[in-house]
Amino acid sequence: MPVETILLLAGTAEGHALAERIAGDRPESRLITSLAGRTKTPRLPAGEVRIGGFGGVEALAAFLTAERVTRLVDATHPFAAGMARNAAQAADRTGTPRLKLLRPAWVPGPSDRWREVSCLGAARDALPPGARPFLALGRQHLAPFRHRSDISPVLRMVDAPEEPLPFPAELVLGLPGLNAADEIALFERYGVTHLVCRNSGGAASFAKLEAARALGLPVILIERPKPPEGPLAAGIEEVLAWLGEGLTAPPCGGDAGHGPGSDRRDGSR
Ligand SMILES: NC(=O)c1ccc[n+]([C@@H]2O[C@H](COP(=O)([O-])OP(=O)(O)OC[C@H]3O[C@@H](n4cnc5c(N)ncnc54)[C@H](OP(=O)(O)O)[C@@H]3O)[C@@H](O)[C@H]2O)c1
Repeated sequence: MPVETILLLAGTAEGHALAERIAGDRPESRLITSLAGRTKTPRLPAGEVRIGGFGGVEALAAFLTAERVTRLVDATHPFAAGMARNAAQAADRTGTPRLKLLRPAWVPGPSDRWREVSCLGAARDALPPGARPFLALGRQHLAPFRHRSDISPVLRMVDAPEEPLPFPAELVLGLPGLNAADEIALFERYGVTHLVCRNSGGAASFAKLEAARALGLPVILIERPKPPEGPLAAGIEEVLAWLGEGLTAPPCGGDAGHGPGSDRRDGSR
């Protein structure tokens, strides 16, 4: 019998890193890492991995009970609001201790020209006529921009889209630039005037914001959804500390993304 059964909801770089650490540091525990199955060939961490949605709150609660899960760690992306909500509700129903790993949000530096908006529609409306925005958004988030025929967006996708884009745009195929220099070169090549992106946090996708800073470009930054009520961890070490506590001890709390040091970047997506 394992000492504990930990369900780790992943799909992020820090989720993967956390799985590796738990598997290495806590061999006495059973670790189940859960992925949504969005990626065709996901990078699988050490330990047991399950792939695909659970089927909603009830089904997740049933999974927690059936697998005798003793701790639930939600390390999904800051914008994966549905999974975070389901995890909180299922944990409440089953009395499973839960901790949300929420990487710190990006905060602007003194020279940044950021305008924070609450949603995609507000981001669309914040763009002036004639703008050439770089829309650093997944293809599932592009639709709200289709009514702005007065702008000429630039998009980047890893693979060519199978379906036509919802509006005419300059399409760049490839991965996000690894450093600011790459992103500066791209923005200059395509005459980008604005950057539109979500406040995902993490280091891996910060290069585009550094490029906007260097070029003095305005950034329209979509705020994160509010996480469910309950304890938050800002990084992997906090989660490991929580896992190291006895089950009767209250989990560590925090207000990730808003306190001092909230611009910490941990190399995640
Ligand atoms: N949103 C982003 O920008 C983003 C960026 C990078 C990575 N990701 C990762 O991609 C996944 C999907 O993101 P999303 O924004 O589509 O999430 P979402 O809208 O919050 O979740 C939609 C549904 O996908 C299933 N799901 C999500 N994460 C899961 C997980 N780790 N294991 C099992 N099922 C999961 C759940 O289905 P059921 O209701 O059927 O259980 C959930 O209700 C997440 O795991 C997230 O960490 C998201």
